[in-house]
Amino acid sequence: MKRIICVAASMLLCMMLASCSRQPETENNPGSVVVGFSQLGAESSWRIANTASMEDAAKDAGFGLMMENANQKQEKQIDAIRSFIAYQVDVIVFSPIVENGWDNVLHEAKKAGIPVILMDRMIETEEKDLYTAYVGADFYAEGRRAGEFLLQKADAMKAEHLNIAEISGTIDSTPMRERQRGFMDVIGGDPRFTVIDSISGDFLRSKGEECARQLLDQYGVGGIDVIYSHNDSMTLGVLDVLEKQDIKPGKDIVLITVDGEKEAVDALKAGKVNCVVQCTPNLGKAVMELVKKLKSGEHVAGTYHPEEGMFTEFDDLSNPAVEGF
Ligand code: AHR
Repeated sequence: MKRIICVAASMLLCMMLASCSRQPETENNPGSVVVGFSQLGAESSWRIANTASMEDAAKDAGFGLMMENANQKQEKQIDAIRSFIAYQVDVIVFSPIVENGWDNVLHEAKKAGIPVILMDRMIETEEKDLYTAYVGADFYAEGRRAGEFLLQKADAMKAEHLNIAEISGTIDSTPMRERQRGFMDVIGGDPRFTVIDSISGDFLRSKGEECARQLLDQYGVGGIDVIYSHNDSMTLGVLDVLEKQDIKPGKDIVLITVDGEKEAVDALKAGKVNCVVQCTPNLGKAVMELVKKLKSGEHVAGTYHPEEGMFTEFDDLSNPAVEGF
């Protein structure tokens, strides 16, 4: 039995190494660079676009990319990081599913002298030298944008009071925590708003549907004025449920969503969604720029936020700049 496990493990390692080609050294390619990339899953269109962005950028830079997808399991991400350390990749990039629980494995990377770049999500740690840099959205600013839209919408509706249901992303992940904090910082002190519930849909379309059904069962159509959903996948699930129940999304219930994928922007244009806060998945290029700098001995540190905005029903939606990814 032990022998079978050993053979299977060596085959797996060979497959990983084969899928990650070290590029020949050229003028534009300072040494053969291998990036170990632990992606957290494939839960949303955003995530799939983000993975493609990393693959394309690594290819353009001439770097080998050793990628492992953790299917939403933190243990699998930790295993992947350990395998990158064993392989002695040049740089480790990972998108942490949740913020806590990374110190041990990052100590191992530090001991092995492998720099770590956090991509998309942050970690919570006392030891800031466990990672080199963070490339990802300012989720707090995204949450604030969602709140600012709601203030504008409430004014336009001359609303005296609105009941809000929040469908959050994965509990304890950075976008979940910060989109909630930013939103509440904007609307929290305004007596016109009550957040009647906050439930997690884990960033999944199927769970977005489940959450919508649960909320409607509990509060009824008249009991919910606004749904603030932390991503488009869940919002699209909500839309399916509302339409099946003859509830007009965007009219009977105000919908605020985050990401900006094409299907959600199209729903905004169709009047079924009221606000799309942008979160770009295209982080690969910025990450590979940092890898290049690290490899050429430059000092790399800090936080790199992409520029983002939002599209709302108050904008000119016929403008060609209003498009999704
Ligand atoms: O971390 C970014 C978030 O994760 C995106 O908003 C969401 O769609 C994804 O699953």
